[in-house]
Amino acid sequence: TLPLLLILVAGYLCGTIPFGLVLSKVFGYGDIRKIGSGNIGATNALRTGNKTLAALTLLGDLLKGTVPVLVGRHFAGETGAMIGGAGAFLGHLFPVWLGFKGGKGVATYIGILLGLAPIGVLTFAVAWLGTAFAFRFSSLAALVATVAVPIVYYLLGLHAVAGFVAVLSLIVWIKHHPNIRRLLAGTEGRIGAKG
Ligand code: G3P
Repeated sequence: TLPLLLILVAGYLCGTIPFGLVLSKVFGYGDIRKIGSGNIGATNALRTGNKTLAALTLLGDLLKGTVPVLVGRHFAGETGAMIGGAGAFLGHLFPVWLGFKGGKGVATYIGILLGLAPIGVLTFAVAWLGTAFAFRFSSLAALVATVAVPIVYYLLGLHAVAGFVAVLSLIVWIKHHPNIRRLLAGTEGRIGAKG
């Protein structure tokens, strides 16, 4: 069990790197937590109007989910892969450096899918893009995509991955409660609108 604990802790530390916060400072926008929704993710980085900043935030937050899955698999097989991903996810959502107030987990979730079973990324992309194109809400697109992914994994017979990812999806939904409230109230910001 020692390797699994190490994989969890290493994954957690990797997940705590707040790319949105660091990059928005590097790009000269100051603290991203004072912009738009206050979230440290790519959607909120886009509210600066800087697409490069948003894309780099997405890429960084995504890869910090993928790397711990691959490292975990290398040392401890499929269980290690999921433990590494769980660590990264928890690190992004609850980073010790930011008083445990992290992001909502969507980009890191995609990165974990990429490491676990890439068909999930395709599923996510189709569901996210379809919903975003129709409604122009990043949050709603993520909520729909995170329901679709575990279902598709399950239907493909990847039952352990489906169960694991379903737990991550539930946490993504819980973290989106302010967005869900805004969506229901009709006050959620649309993609492309500046914060
Ligand atoms: O990934 C987060 C996204 O779904 C919502 O972000 O900034 O609108 O709360 P935001």
